[in-house]
Amino acid sequence: VHSVIDNSVTKFLVDLLRNASTKPSAFQRITNELSYILAYEVSKNAATKKKLIETWQGTYEATSLPQDDVAIIPILRAGLGMLGGVQKLLPGAQVHVLGMYRDEETLNPVWYYNKIPQENTIRKAYVIDPMLATGGSMVSTISALKEKGCKDIVALSIIGAPEGLKAVEEAHPDVHVYLSSLDDRLNEKGYIIPGLGDAGDRIFNT
Ligand code: PRP
Ligand code: URA
Repeated sequence: VHSVIDNSVTKFLVDLLRNASTKPSAFQRITNELSYILAYEVSKNAATKKKLIETWQGTYEATSLPQDDVAIIPILRAGLGMLGGVQKLLPGAQVHVLGMYRDEETLNPVWYYNKIPQENTIRKAYVIDPMLATGGSMVSTISALKEKGCKDIVALSIIGAPEGLKAVEEAHPDVHVYLSSLDDRLNEKGYIIPGLGDAGDRIFNT
């Protein structure tokens, strides 16, 4: 299952990221804005609870948004660029960071940091990574979350390639993938075309 945000503002913002002259400070701000919009789209289905509050005209049954058992999972490095935007919507969520990089030859993810809690305290996980290229990093992250008992997982990426989307949908058909843009293809080095280049380098000015 996947959704591509169909919105003129989103298209405008993604194309600002594609522009090679967009500097890291603007790139970071726009990435956070797009991440907020993605999380907002996911939150349409967020679980709510009712609680009684006192208002100016008496008791009222208000909507509350439980977040203690929601987790945001940024994949290092580039996933950190989305964290602020998602946290703006879910300030009470847990954050668990995972580290992996793509082997340049095989394009397979290589893990170097895993902070998923041993005891599952996560009812819903938002995995965030701006680029869904081959899908290897996302598939591996979702598998690791499931191994720890997490059942409700959504994946948020700014730009996805058809190849990566297919890989996630085949490996994890229960996971809903949210994209700001679904691009054309991967090139021979596993980069998304047209894409935006290397997201980590663009965010962190490396
Ligand atoms: C990039 C990106 C994703 C991954 C996507 O990370 O941030 O994590 O590639 O590729 P995949 O879908 O083929 O797995 P990279 O390895 O460049 O590391 P970085 O975020 O530290 O720059
Ligand atoms: N990672 C990136 O940062 N960009 C791509 O196009 C593919 C993987």
